[in-house]
Formats: sequence, structure tokens, C-alpha cells
Amino acid sequence: MDRRAFLLRVGVGVLASSLPVAIAACTPEATQPTTQQTTEPTPSTAGAFTAVGTIQDLDKTGFIQDKKFAAGPLLVVRDPSDKTKLLAFNATCTHKGCVVDWSDQSKGFLCPCHATEFKADGSVAKGPATQPLAKFAVKTEGNSILVSAS
Ligand code: FES
Repeated sequence: MDRRAFLLRVGVGVLASSLPVAIAACTPEATQPTTQQTTEPTPSTAGAFTAVGTIQDLDKTGFIQDKKFAAGPLLVVRDPSDKTKLLAFNATCTHKGCVVDWSDQSKGFLCPCHATEFKADGSVAKGPATQPLAKFAVKTEGNSILVSAS
């Protein structure tokens, strides 16, 4: 095979092997992204209320606890000074981050790690913590208790 025939065969081979790639690049599907994009906005969860239980659940145990609540471990109790009101807190102790428990006996929150006591309104009754528990917004709709982290 002479040089000219060799270059002709190589050239035809390269052209033939790249033709499918060139055709695929020109098809309309190739111009679209591989992942489907939606033009609808993603619903925001900021300020959204989430159902965490019912009034019956609350009255059965004296509290509603959800350690997997999106904004942090949740405790909902009735306000001891006004049983018609509900109080919702992030149950993360402000001392070192343990999860506090509700004490129906003392009508407050107790930290099992270093014994901080929080009043039912979330304020510190006895340290070592110095900051109150973070509050969540809470409301009822019918029998449902709804909580928002904002
Ligand atoms: S973590 Fe709660 S008192 Fe220390």
C-alpha cells in the first residue's frame, strides 16, 4: 500500500468513526439538559406549620416530643399558668446541647446532662445554662397541633 492509499483509508476511517458523534450532537435531545428542570418554584418551608400531633396525644402524656422535627428536637406542652395555651420549644439545652425532658412534676424542662432546669416558658430556673430554650410558633387547627420553626 502506498502512502496516498494509506492516508485515504485512515481519513475515511476517522470520518466514519466520528460521524455518529457528530449526528448525535446535532439532534434536539442533545441540546437539552440531562436532568429535567422544572420552572415551578420549590415550595418554601420557612414559616410553614407542620402537624406534630393531636390535642388527645398531648393530654394523654402531658407533652408531645419529636426528636426528629426538622428544625431541631421538639417539645410541646400546655402552659401551666393557662392550660388553654400551648408552648413549643426546641428541646436542645442551651448549655451543651443535650435534649431536655419535660417534667410534669416540676412543670418545667430538665436537662439530663448537667441538671439545668428550665421553666415552662423556657427561661432558665437553675444553671449551668444561662440562655432560655428557643421557642417555636405553635397553633391548633381542630384537634391538630401545628408547629413552625420561624
Ligand atoms: S447540656 Fe444541659 S445542662 Fe449541660
